[in-house]
Amino acid sequence: MASAKFITFEGGEGSGKSTQARLLADRLQVRGIEALLTREPGGSPFAERVRALLLDPAIPAHGALSEALLFYAARADHLDKTIRPALAAGRWIICDRFSDSSRVYQGAAGGLRAATLDALERLVVLPTRPHLTLILDLPPMQGLARARARGTLVGGVGAPTDPFEGRDASFHEHLRKGYAALAKAEPQRCALVDATKPTDVVAAEIWALVEQRLLSGAR
Ligand SMILES: Nc1ncnc2c1ncn2[C@@H]1O[C@H](COP(=O)(O)OP(=O)(O)OP(=O)(O)O)[C@@H](O)[C@H]1O
Ligand SMILES: [Mg+2]
Repeated sequence: MASAKFITFEGGEGSGKSTQARLLADRLQVRGIEALLTREPGGSPFAERVRALLLDPAIPAHGALSEALLFYAARADHLDKTIRPALAAGRWIICDRFSDSSRVYQGAAGGLRAATLDALERLVVLPTRPHLTLILDLPPMQGLARARARGTLVGGVGAPTDPFEGRDASFHEHLRKGYAALAKAEPQRCALVDATKPTDVVAAEIWALVEQRLLSGAR
C-alpha cells in the first residue's frame, strides 16, 4: 500500500479545480483510499476566517505583499491543523489550490519577486510539499465564463465572485503563463492538464496521472 500522498489542484478561475478534486476523491475511494478533501485559502477554522477576508468583494485594495502574507498565515494554520496531522495518520490529502497559487497570483501576475515567495515557502511550507500538482489549463476567458455561469454570483449575473476574478484580462493571461512556466520548471511534481475538454475526459486524464505517478509503485 502506497504511503499517504498530498495532491494539489491549481489553475485559473473556473478551470474545474473543485469539480476535479471531488471526482478524484470519489475515484480514490473506489480504490479503498479515503482522501481528505480540503481547500485554500481555508481548510482550518482560522484559515477559513482569513479566506472570508481575502475573498470579500468589498475588501479595500491592498498590495501583493500583504495578500501573500495573509495567504501564508492561513496556510501555516492549514498545514498545522489539517494537512500534517492527516498525512502523519496515513491519510491522503487533495487540496483545491495551494502554494503555487501564491507563486502565480502574487508572483507571476502580482509582481512579487520569486525570492520573496521562496522565503515564505521555506518558512511556512517545507518540508510538506505536494507529491503531485495537477494544473488545469484553459484560456482565461473560457474559465471566467464558466465561473460566472455557475450561479454563485455576488452582485448579479455576470459579476465577478471574488476580487481575483474581477482583475483585468492581462492579469489572467499572466496567471496562465505563470502556471505553464511552473509546470515546465517542475515536471516531476507538476502536470499540465488540458481543461478545455469535457469533465469526464479531464477526469480520466487526471486518474491516469495519479495511477502512473502515485499508485504504480514505480517511484
Ligand atoms: N471540463 C469542463 N467542461 C465544462 N464545464 C466545466 C468543466 N469542468 C467544470 N465545469 C463547470 O465550470 C464551472 C467551474 O468549475 P469549478 O467550480 O470546478 O472550477 P474552479 O476551478 O474550482 O473555479 P474557481 O476558480 O472559481 O474556484 C462549474 O459550473 C463546473 O460545473
Ligand atoms: Mg473552485
